[in-house]
Amino acid sequence: MISASAPAKIILLGEHAVVYGQPAIAVPVSSLRATATALHNEHGLQIVAPDLNQILDLGQSEVDHALALLTRLVLNKINHAPPRLTITVASQIPLASGLGSGAAVSTALARVLLAATAQPIELETLNSLVYEVEKVHHGTPSGIDNTVIVYEQPVYFVREQPIERLRIAGDFTLLIGDTGKTALTKIAVGDVRALYNEDPAKIQPILNSIGTLVKAGRNALETGDAALLGGLMVENHRLLQQLTVSSPELDTLVSAALAAGALGAKLSGGGRGGNMIALITPDQADTVERALRAAGAIRVFRADLQRSPDAHLH
Ligand code: PMV
Repeated sequence: MISASAPAKIILLGEHAVVYGQPAIAVPVSSLRATATALHNEHGLQIVAPDLNQILDLGQSEVDHALALLTRLVLNKINHAPPRLTITVASQIPLASGLGSGAAVSTALARVLLAATAQPIELETLNSLVYEVEKVHHGTPSGIDNTVIVYEQPVYFVREQPIERLRIAGDFTLLIGDTGKTALTKIAVGDVRALYNEDPAKIQPILNSIGTLVKAGRNALETGDAALLGGLMVENHRLLQQLTVSSPELDTLVSAALAAGALGAKLSGGGRGGNMIALITPDQADTVERALRAAGAIRVFRADLQRSPDAHLH
């Protein structure tokens, strides 16, 4: 049996504006993972995804599913016939809620295929294959999800620029609160595009302000300044509200976290539902978690951003 996995991710700052060329910061959540496990199957290649209610037989015919597309892309890249395997993909990451479940499942599946066929590829190549599938899920994704998930490192991401890994100088504790409402990133991204096309002179300054606060956020992470980062998260949430991608549920959770003493809170990812994040000190974890649950969060995860071991990662 061969297994491989990939983490969830959260966007700390800069979602949506990143689609328009502004920087964004995302971090992996290594404690929440998608896994893929391969077992010999003498009949051919089969992908089983119990969470998605899917059994895909990838013999000869072209199966129309993102997981089938990813499989074809990987096998084409390594020039390999479909191996005789049953690959089961499973994920602890809630679906369609801004935590990158799609990119994590794709990455885990690609890794197990590569391991089972003994064909190592560069992370950069894997990243571009997963990005192809992200386009099917999201329309015009910036590529931030697949990048942070494939590299499993904090990233300072600018569309179509070389990847910059972030050096984090301090321990930051986050709680992730799930509204329980799924929302399609594609729709939120499309709505922001429509707003932008309607009145670019009004929307561009909002995007620019987000870009400016992301740069300040990078500095906060690199100097270990949690209070500064918290303030920037609050400001980012306000600007995301102006882009219409928050929701009453997200606003309620953000307000509850702040009222319970969090240093900052904002929606994370595509918005309209899905997850929000709160930056806290470790001693606030129980209080803020209780406040989030009382305000309607159906799940609360903790994510600790560890100080980078290497001061010069990039
Ligand atoms: O996949 P999600 O919901 O975490 O959000 C992706 C982030 C966006 O900036 C909204 C879209 C993108 O492609 O970057």
